[in-house]
This record gives sequence, structure tokens and C-alpha cells, in this order.
Amino acid sequence: MLSNSLAELDRRHLVHPVSSFRGHEARGVRLLQSARGAVVTDAEGRDLIDGFAGLWCVNAGYGHESVVEAAAAQMRQLPYATGYFDLGAEAPIRLAAELAERAPGDLDHVYFCLGGSDAVDSTIRFIRYYWHSRGKPQRDLFISVGQGYHGSASGGAGLTALPAFHEGFGLPYDWQHKISSHYIYRNPVGQDPQAIIDASLAELRAKLAEIGEDRVAAFYVEPIQGSGGVLVPPPGWIKAMRDLCAEHEVLFVADEVITGFGRTGPLFACEDEGIVPDLMTVAKGLTSGYVPMGAVFMRNHVYETIAEGAGAKAVGHGFTYSAHPVSAAVALEVLALYEGGLFENGRRMGARLMAGLAELRDHPLVGDVRGRGMLAAVELVTDKRNKTPLPAALDPANRLFDRAWEQGLIVRSFAQGILGYAPPLCCTADEIDAIVERSRKVLDLTLEDPEIRKVLRG
Ligand SMILES: Cc1ncc(COP(=O)(O)O)c(C=O)c1O
Repeated sequence: MLSNSLAELDRRHLVHPVSSFRGHEARGVRLLQSARGAVVTDAEGRDLIDGFAGLWCVNAGYGHESVVEAAAAQMRQLPYATGYFDLGAEAPIRLAAELAERAPGDLDHVYFCLGGSDAVDSTIRFIRYYWHSRGKPQRDLFISVGQGYHGSASGGAGLTALPAFHEGFGLPYDWQHKISSHYIYRNPVGQDPQAIIDASLAELRAKLAEIGEDRVAAFYVEPIQGSGGVLVPPPGWIKAMRDLCAEHEVLFVADEVITGFGRTGPLFACEDEGIVPDLMTVAKGLTSGYVPMGAVFMRNHVYETIAEGAGAKAVGHGFTYSAHPVSAAVALEVLALYEGGLFENGRRMGARLMAGLAELRDHPLVGDVRGRGMLAAVELVTDKRNKTPLPAALDPANRLFDRAWEQGLIVRSFAQGILGYAPPLCCTADEIDAIVERSRKVLDLTLEDPEIRKVLRG
């Protein structure tokens, strides 16, 4: 009764993010009631393993009392403090210092915001200001990568390269340019890592020549593309692109909103790549999703250029909730949990997850298995040789999501028939094994699905 009435209220009043409004009205909401560790419980009391950590964010897992305590203590003592007017509070200052100490190279300056989208939009504004400060305001073009996702705020949504975020929104803007993704499995130059790196370098060079290298402000990458289908670049791809940007004085932005905070193993995925970006964005795992927070890291030269350019003037960028003390208190506690064993567990469980998923390669529906650490994907095809995706008409996203749900597993189910995994770093070995076993069951049931069989026969 309760859930029925909630479902009706939801239908009438709550607008869900990135959803088909009509599709959601028809399907209705699935209510989640509580969670502990890597397991969420729905309103009917069914337990499900959260193989996607909410929205690749609850890296620490659910139910950490110490995080709840940290938030409550901060709320009791000082629930809000602005950073405007030279004011501040202890928690965000300590958090900025802790993060700067751990960030690659001289990414020593941290601007806190509310999530990933406004982190990306903040970089766009800081970068424009940087080039104005350097006396080169004509450097106002931005390049990002096909299949990339950089949030859905008005600036970043155009750097995002997924059609749903553009169509009907008048995006991308004419200052936003793209080069192709490295997407190894479907790369037109084949799967040889060096050939892919060479092709991407050639494409970026061509793009710089086409739009004018002295016009380009910045280049954006995700160390592993998340929302585009968990696309892992060939080893060396990120470094090669970073070096080319440095050669042409193009600022290099690493968007670590998904890959940060142990998702791929280290604190930041840039560490795997041996690079220091000029700016870096994070969110999600920063607070493990317990409260909203994002951040922009700037290297010294970026911060100094902006500071010098502004002189005594205010740099007009900021939000009421920049450097929120409750979010910062949560982030500090989450960081302590990560370093107190969760990163270590995540690295062990990530290796187990990748090994388990690799065993699904033999399944007739599996075209590709890829990932790093606790970030992975299984791409389904109806024909391995031709890499034919599941037909869009069969709505693979909902079909696979529903089937996984019935097996007691939450996964990300991408529109093109890709299962995405980003489990909490606290997962036990049994939970990782259950994620793999339940995924196999989902694949087996999909193979028996009469509508899929029809396509396979055809
Ligand atoms: C790489 C990347 N950048 C930015 C964002 C936007 O973050 P948010 O949803 O917190 O606004 C996301 C969200 O998934 C992301 O994956």
C-alpha cells in the first residue's frame, strides 16, 4: 500500500535524471529501502548486490557509522560556513590539504563544488579566465573525446559526446570539438595499441591544424571512459595525448569523476598513466556518495596565472555550497576508511572481478570484456565475428537491467547492450563471485530469450 502510493506520488511529481519521462511513468519506480556493505534492500525486503555502487559513487560501501558520525558532528558544530568574504571552516581546509598532498605532481590547489557536472563547468570557466590572464583570450576552443561523458551542466554537456545529452538541447556549442574515441573493440584501425595511439595522435594534430592550434584552450579526457561504455584506452594512450597537448600548450584536463578514489586501484587513475594533468576533476568517490561534493584540482601554474591575472579583483566563480563543511567532514572520514584498508581490498577484489568476468568471454553472447580494478564492462553481441550489437528495437538496456535485478544484482545496463560494473570497494570475495555468477545467469537467460533467439537465428 505504502509503496503503491509512493509509486504514484513519484509518477506525478518526481522528475528522474536521464530517464525517458514516459518510459518511467509506464515502468514506475523501484524503491530502495536500506543498504549495508555492498548489499541494498528494496521496499519488498529483497536483497540485491549493488554491482554499480549506486551510480559508480558509493566506493566505500553503505552503512559506515563513522561517516554518519562525522556528518552529524559537523552539523552540530557548524552546519554551514561560506567560503566567500575570506571566511572558512576547518574541514574543507584540512580536506584540500590532504588531497593536495596525495594528488599527482603540483596539483596543489583545490576548488570544491557539489558534484561532477559543476566541477567540469568550473574548469571551463577557470580555463577561459586562465587564457584571458595570459593575454590570449582567443584560446577559447575546447576539444574532447567521442563517447566521452563530462556531465550534463550547460558547458560540460557539450563536451560530453553522447547524443542524448545534445539532441533537443542545442548542443554542442560551436566552440566544442571532438576527436574519436580509442574504443579498442570497435576501433576502425584495429586493436593494435600503437596503431590506435598513432591514429588518435594524428586526429588530434589534424583537429589542432583545422581549428587553429593557437585557438585551442584545453583537451578533456576520462582516464577510462565511463558512461560511453567503460572504454579503457590502450596503455600509453593517455600519456601520448598529454604530451601532444603539452607540445602545443593546450591545457590537459583529466576528468576523474568516476576513476578517482580507488575505482581503478590507485587514489587517482592518472597515477597508473604516469601523468600530471593541468586540471583534474573529481566527485562521486570523494564522499562515497553519502553527501554531494565535487572538486577541481589546479596545478600551480594554472592557479598562479589566474591569481596574477585577477590581481586585487575577485575571480567571479563560486557557489553558495562551495567547500561545504559537512561534505568535507564526510570526505575526510571516507578518505580515512579508504586508506585504512578499503583501497587495498578494492585492489584485491578488482583483480578477482576482472578474472571472473574474463571467464564469461566464452559465452556465445559476449563480444568483449574490459576494465581495470573495480571498473569493468561486458559487451554483448549477437554475432562475435561481425561484432553485431543487440538490436536497439529489443531495448537491451531495460531487458538486461530487469533480468539482472531478478537475479539479485544491480548493474549498469547501457543502451547498446553493455553490462557495466563498479562495485563498492568493500565487496567480499563471495560477493564478487556472486556478481560474476549472476551475470552468467543473465547471459544464459538472454540467450534463451525468444526474441534474442530470433535475431541469433536470423
Ligand atoms: C567523467 C564524468 N564527469 C562528470 C560527471 C558528472 O558528474 P555528476 O553526475 O556528479 O554531475 C560524471 C558522472 O557520471 C562523469 O562520469
